[in-house]
Amino acid sequence: MLIDKNTLQKYDVAGPRYTSYPTAPQWSKNVTEDVYTAALKVFGQNDKTLSLYIHIPFCEQLCYFCACNKVIRAKEEKVGDEFLDYLFKEIDMVAKHIQRRKLIRQLHWGGGTPTYLSEEQMKRLFTKIKSVFDIDFNEEIAIEIDPRTVTQHKLKVLRELGFNRISLGVQDFNEKVQDDINRIQPFEQVAEVHQWCRDLKFESINYDLIYGLPYQTKETFKKTVDLVVGLRPDRIALYSFAYVPWLSKPQNKFNLDAIAVHDEKLDIFIQSRENLLAHGYQAIAMDHFALTTDAMAKAFNTGALHRNFMGYTLKPADEFIGLGPSAIGFLEKTYVQNTKILPEYYESITQGHLPVERGKQLNQDDQIRQWVINSLMCQFQIDKQLFFNTFGYEFEDYFLEEGRHIHDCIEDGLINENSQRIQVTALGKIFIRNVCMGFDYYLKDKNGHQRFSRTV
Ligand SMILES: C[S@@+](CC[C@H](N)C(=O)[O-])C[C@H]1O[C@@H](n2cnc3c(N)ncnc32)[C@H](O)[C@@H]1O
Ligand code: SF4
Repeated sequence: MLIDKNTLQKYDVAGPRYTSYPTAPQWSKNVTEDVYTAALKVFGQNDKTLSLYIHIPFCEQLCYFCACNKVIRAKEEKVGDEFLDYLFKEIDMVAKHIQRRKLIRQLHWGGGTPTYLSEEQMKRLFTKIKSVFDIDFNEEIAIEIDPRTVTQHKLKVLRELGFNRISLGVQDFNEKVQDDINRIQPFEQVAEVHQWCRDLKFESINYDLIYGLPYQTKETFKKTVDLVVGLRPDRIALYSFAYVPWLSKPQNKFNLDAIAVHDEKLDIFIQSRENLLAHGYQAIAMDHFALTTDAMAKAFNTGALHRNFMGYTLKPADEFIGLGPSAIGFLEKTYVQNTKILPEYYESITQGHLPVERGKQLNQDDQIRQWVINSLMCQFQIDKQLFFNTFGYEFEDYFLEEGRHIHDCIEDGLINENSQRIQVTALGKIFIRNVCMGFDYYLKDKNGHQRFSRTV
């Protein structure tokens, strides 16, 4: 696919990833513990199902590129035990407000590195969850693991607990890149962990890769992708390196000259994308790929894909609860985020308070734009009739002011439009964040400041 350099320059701007709308910079302290507990109470009075995310922040070693919320700790049983004491109290508080056993349709342990916990600790956490919630074991029960530290036995324990999906942080196989990002992880190690997961019959294996890391070139990253497709994970998340040194200080260690930007970075992405497509993967929305035989590819093709903070998902639950530091929930049309700082998280729970830091209650316009952005990100289209049926407005009338943006996107070949729908083109899929940005109320008349990483 040929991409015009002017288009590239125009759209290579800082922009959000839209794992939520409104995006995090719009969240405020207006969402307090009281707002959250009121939402939990309402949730307790209805039959809605639950997606539960648990954030376990610890990692044994720092990867310099990492923009996740993590706490680096040498491996020690007591670190996990202390954490679980607080986490269990948070679970109890949440359960007390809901006052009812809810059905979990999606369970996700993320981090940090959830497998920092010992086998015993993971079992205790799972038992604790089951003591207050019901779990539908036919749905997504997923965990993020670090292939450098997980053992075969730990994977076996996870499988026995009921985890059916696993995600491995792979990033890049090149030694020079690995050295620079402080993450030595030979191919053989990943291949071995991959085989263990296959032997244990995890239903789906995902790899995280990052393009745009220091010292990556088209040649080196092609080798990484070649090795990856040889192992045939079911899904691949191909993330654009979020270079945000003002937020993630260790990124300042990187030699700026060694980081590919603009068209060089885009070249790496396009080459990798084509390599994946040529090897039986389908592009799933923005930066995700799945084997064409995988359920996610099928869901994408039938318009049944959804997206939340945990990435793309097949069957979303009705409401979301996040537990642990920095975890995000969304219930009663309100985003709620816990404090990111571990000592503050502990302190709040010690005081008997839910550790809510901020959030956002969606007004009607937020809900409408959230729907439109989700539709673009997951289905690559906006069905105008469906929009009307859902909100009672004609799409053209509601988005009169966005006419200019729609026109520009058509001119630049990012979308096509007719009376029934807006359809994103192959080029538009690469710049999907930019297409969405035009529908973001909070970016109106602004150029997207350096709050976000670049869109490609
Ligand atoms: C919580 S980690 C995955 C589990 C485990 N901690 C590991 O690294 O193996 C989540 C993923 O976020 C991605 N990630 C972290 N920092 C990033 C950044 N600055 N830009 C793009 N992706 C990033 C990485 O691909 C990483 O695998
Ligand atoms: S990438 Fe994973 S292992 Fe590395 S610091 Fe981030 S969360 Fe920890």
